[in-house]
Order: sequence, then structure tokens, then C-alpha cells
Amino acid sequence: MKRILVWDLPVRLGHWLMVGGFALAWATGDSEKWRLVHVFAGSTVMAVAAYRLLWGIVGSRTARFAEFVRGPGQAFAYLKSLLLARPPHYAGHNPAAGLAIVLLLGLALASGASGWLTYQEIGGEWLEEVHEFLTGLMLAVVGVHVLGVVVGSLAHRENLVWAMVTGRKLGRPEEAIAGQRFVAALMLLAWTAAAAWWLAR
Ligand code: HEM
Ligand code: HEM
Repeated sequence: MKRILVWDLPVRLGHWLMVGGFALAWATGDSEKWRLVHVFAGSTVMAVAAYRLLWGIVGSRTARFAEFVRGPGQAFAYLKSLLLARPPHYAGHNPAAGLAIVLLLGLALASGASGWLTYQEIGGEWLEEVHEFLTGLMLAVVGVHVLGVVVGSLAHRENLVWAMVTGRKLGRPEEAIAGQRFVAALMLLAWTAAAAWWLAR
């Protein structure tokens, strides 16, 4: 096994944009004064998640949903193998991570949409409650996701957080992806800026 490129630039940039946007949105959610910052931060999370859906179809091999989204059965089988201390190694996402990723992207879009509708004063009080509930649920899934990353890192003796920074993990050379996809990363930035500006109007 060698260190190979598995996460392209759009995946990594998008990931850390979502993390930053989510943290900032949490910090500013219940302040009237910081409303515009909140809306920009939340819209960033939403825009990146939308782009990630497209990238899950046309992106690098390890980014494609068909490559890593498996049913709950396989996710539980992987968790069981972790408990038995002999988890199989995946160069890309393991089946449990795949499940968390689908949930996180879905919740990012749903909590963003409920926030936007509240912001546009469509819906009223109950949508505000829905927004609060969905963002709380997302925080819980983020907690499980981060716990999974820590456990996975320990089980495989590989720093997965650093891998999400550099894009490189241990794997067989033929499992590597072709390149960083710079143009798609620039498109992600342009799309996110435009979408956040539009959503915050
Ligand atoms: C708002 C918070 C977060 C969201 C929405 C989020 C979302 C995601 C998504 C969608 C992926 C899949 C990457 C892709 O294929 O595009 C992912 C993977 C990953 N995330 Fe997060 N994440 C969050 C917080 C964090 C934090 C705080 C950390 C680190 C401490 C982290 C570490 C990772 C790692 C290491 C992976 C790769 C997992 C693997 O090796 O399969 N995430 N995350
Ligand atoms: C996923 C990202 C987001 C997170 C984590 C988040 C989180 C929160 C939180 C925790 C609150 C406070 C709820 C309360 O205590 O009343 C809040 C309120 C609010 N959010 Fe978000 N939000 C996100 C996205 C958005 C987006 C995209 C928009 C609009 C475009 C938005 C608009 C609002 C508005 C208008 C309120 C105030 C509701 C009220 O009048 O109390 N949020 N958000």
C-alpha cells in the first residue's frame, strides 16, 4: 500500500467550507444582529451540499455515490467488524461513512431550505420550529460523523482528518484518482458565492 490521491479538490474544499459555514451558522443562529452573516453561512452549507450532489454523479471515482453509498445492512456489517477489531480497509469511504454522508447532505439541504423559507417570511412560526429541529438533528449527525472519523482513524491507524486536508490515503496505486480537478473546484467557489448571494437577498 502507498499514499495515493483519493479526495479531489472539490471534495476537500467543499467539506471544509461546509464545516466552517455550519459552525458560523450555529454561532449566529439566534442573534438578530448577526442575521445576514447567519444567512450567508447557512447558504454556503446549502450551496456546497447541492454542488456535492452533482459531483456525486459526475465527479472523481471516489466522490461518486455509486462508489460508496451502500444499504444500512452493509453499514452495520462494517460497524460490527469495527467492534470485532478487524474492519476491512477502504481507500474511499467505508459503508458506514457513506450512510452518514447521505444523511449530512440531506440535512444540509433540508435545514437550509427551512431557514431560507423562514428568512423570506414564508411559512411562519412552525417553519422556524422545523428549522431549529433540523439544524439540531444535523448537529447530532455531525457528532456521530466526527466520532466515526476518530474511531476509523484509530482502527486503521491512519489520520483521516489529515487525509481530508491533503486528499491522500493509504491504498493500492490503481485505486488512486486521476487528479485534483482544479476547474471544478473553481466552479464550486463561483457557484457557492453566487448561490449564497442570491439566497441572502
Ligand atoms: C458541519 C459539519 C460537517 C459536515 C456537513 C460534514 C460532511 C461530510 C461529508 C459530506 C463528507 C463526505 C466527503 C465527500 O465525499 O464529499 C465527509 C467526510 C469526512 N469528514 Fe466531515 N463533515 C462535517 C464535519 C467534520 C469534522 C468536524 C471533521 C473532523 C474533525 C470531519 C472529518 C471528515 C473526514 C475525515 C471525512 C472522510 C471520511 C472518510 O474517510 O470516509 N467532518 N464529511
Ligand atoms: C445548515 C445551516 C444552518 C444552521 C446550522 C442554522 C442554525 C440556526 C439556528 C441554531 C437558529 C436559531 C433557532 C432558534 O433558536 O430560534 C437559526 C435561526 C434562523 N436561521 Fe438558520 N441555520 C442554517 C441555515 C440557514 C439558512 C440557509 C437561512 C436562510 C437563508 C437561515 C435563516 C435563519 C433565520 C431567518 C433564523 C431566525 C428564525 C427566528 O426568527 O427565530 N438559516 N438557524
